[in-house]
Amino acid sequence: MARSTAVAGLADGRLVFGCDYNPEQWHPEVWVEDVRLMKEAGVNLVAVNIFGWAELEPTPGAYSFDRLDAVLDLLAEQGIGVNLGTGTSSTPAWLTTLHPEVLPQAADGTRRWPGGRQAWCPSSPVYREHALRLVEQVATRYGGHPALRIWHVSNELGCHNALCYCEVSADAFRAWLRTRYGTLDELNNAWGTAFWSQRYSAWDQILPPRLTLSATNPTQTLDYQRFSSDELLAHYTAEEAILRRLSAAPVTTNFMVSAHIRNQDYWSWAPHMDLIANDHYLDHRLDSPTSELAFAADASRGLAQGAPWLLMEHSTGAVNWQPRNIAKIPGEMLRNSLAHLARGADGLCFFQWRASLQGSEKFHSAMLPHAGIDSQNWRDVLELGSSLHRLAEVAGTRVQAEVALVFSWEAWWAHDQESHPSSDVRYLDQVHAAYRALWDAGITVNVVAPGADLTAYRLVVVPGLYLVRDTDAAALAAYVAGGGHALVTFFSGIVDENERVRPGGYPGAFRDLLGIRSEEFFPLHPRDSLTLSNGGTATLWSEALRLEGAEAVLTYDGGHLAGGPAVTRHGFGEGRAWYTGTVLDPATLKGLLTTAAAEAGVVLPDVQEGLEVIVRSGNGRTYVFLINHSSEDRKYRVAGTELMTAEASDNAVVVPAGAVRVVRTPAMTADFPKNDGPVGDRKDAHRVSN
Ligand code: GLA
Repeated sequence: MARSTAVAGLADGRLVFGCDYNPEQWHPEVWVEDVRLMKEAGVNLVAVNIFGWAELEPTPGAYSFDRLDAVLDLLAEQGIGVNLGTGTSSTPAWLTTLHPEVLPQAADGTRRWPGGRQAWCPSSPVYREHALRLVEQVATRYGGHPALRIWHVSNELGCHNALCYCEVSADAFRAWLRTRYGTLDELNNAWGTAFWSQRYSAWDQILPPRLTLSATNPTQTLDYQRFSSDELLAHYTAEEAILRRLSAAPVTTNFMVSAHIRNQDYWSWAPHMDLIANDHYLDHRLDSPTSELAFAADASRGLAQGAPWLLMEHSTGAVNWQPRNIAKIPGEMLRNSLAHLARGADGLCFFQWRASLQGSEKFHSAMLPHAGIDSQNWRDVLELGSSLHRLAEVAGTRVQAEVALVFSWEAWWAHDQESHPSSDVRYLDQVHAAYRALWDAGITVNVVAPGADLTAYRLVVVPGLYLVRDTDAAALAAYVAGGGHALVTFFSGIVDENERVRPGGYPGAFRDLLGIRSEEFFPLHPRDSLTLSNGGTATLWSEALRLEGAEAVLTYDGGHLAGGPAVTRHGFGEGRAWYTGTVLDPATLKGLLTTAAAEAGVVLPDVQEGLEVIVRSGNGRTYVFLINHSSEDRKYRVAGTELMTAEASDNAVVVPAGAVRVVRTPAMTADFPKNDGPVGDRKDAHRVSN
């Protein structure tokens, strides 16, 4: 299905500004004040009925819509659109009391109790039947409501319940496997069950990868991840079918492209959405939460195939689910918000409108905090609302990037399995490290799936693509042979889609492309490191690389691989392919990626440290977003009209410490000063993707 819905179409062509609104918590008098303040802030889209099931269906089959009617009517009267939840995300207590079999089962066989949220098995027909009955009611009642702008199926599908190991799931898994493999022989072959006496002689012997005494079968585990992602997608499409039958409004659900959720293969989900919506929260457990925000935003844009997308949730300040919930410092909320906008979002929404007084999220920030409107938080919300008003013309424009980064949920699942050479090497760490190096260098990146069309890019970065299909490896090789440049990092190309090692030496699928061969991995203990020939440091991983056509760019300066190659470069056809055989220190990785980008002809931005520069363009105009993360003023050479201050700039804009500036310029041309920004001196515009 094509993604046909423009995000700005949800707000009459404006940028979307909104929130989750959970009015179930409040007295109707509060709703009136809520809507008045929403208007004051410029809110134009609110997500309601996200957790409404127990209120809408207080007892089995008896529905009560009075309060939701009143909320929707109130919002419609005030011209605020609704992102309407189907309400099926969390089950009412009566359902799990009557049917405890819908409760999910953990890998150790224990059931999870109700009392939190999302306590349902994705494969449960009992849950599905009750949920779809509710959706039918909600869609019938509100499918043509004047406030309705978009349907919001469930909520963050798989946030808590992605993997269920119960008997019902086991049956559904077997059905899924029959479709995938057809025969038991095929399955036994794909799973390598000849090893450890794991051969199956009947389908009913096959189980989900429940808790075992030793390592489980890796292909079984991988297939269970695939199955589990498909099961929740099937739930989405079941709800979607009802909504489409009863309503003309577009349909989506909120993705969780983030650092701590990995159970959905969103590349396979994305084509089912009318628009891509993502939820993102800064994760202070990471080394660089801000660059991870940028990665998640770029990945959301990738899922939207370059089209504008919607940030359906983020936070004005602290969350409540990290070990330490760090509040945002002054200006940070605006910077975070506009970083999403700069990277292609046409709308920004928050969880949630008014901070709860009760329940487990009462210490989660909100647009309207416990302190009320006499607060910095509220003033920041007003400032963001008026900024979005000033930036309205950006809607519909697209981000430009000359570099792609290949990202795969499936490779993530496979890469991080147990019994691998090193449990210290994690897929997402390698992805984030490569992304951060590019981000630090000011290079804008499109995130793409394995096998994506790469012809629009000058450089393609492939971090840790441990699992790769033959066709996807061949596509990368063809791209390089045709003149493209690629940089592949270690532990890539190792297995096929069934987790079968590609024999003959590492890195398997990419040996010829990279012109190298390695016989053995030598992971490093975290307390050890090796020195590189540039004086840099190699950690966590090394391998005995032999050059088979490639040249060594960096070598090891001592240790067990002294003199051996650590980083290589290989001319392949018309293009060039780089390989990093270890975890490089950040400065070395940044230098390497910058060199690879320069050799590929990427226009390198010349920006001061701490200044994030992203360009959106369309309709003959270009918008240069300048986000100053530093504590000093920064300057950027660009002429045009600055939209946050409405000031004209002849040739340079000063971005005060911590501030954001957005400059509208005419479409960039070749006479734009070289190295003044990522869009300067673009000689070969056809190679630049949307
Ligand atoms: C998720 C959920 C919300 C809320 C936020 C808190 O995004 O969708 O209901 O729990 O997390 O950060």
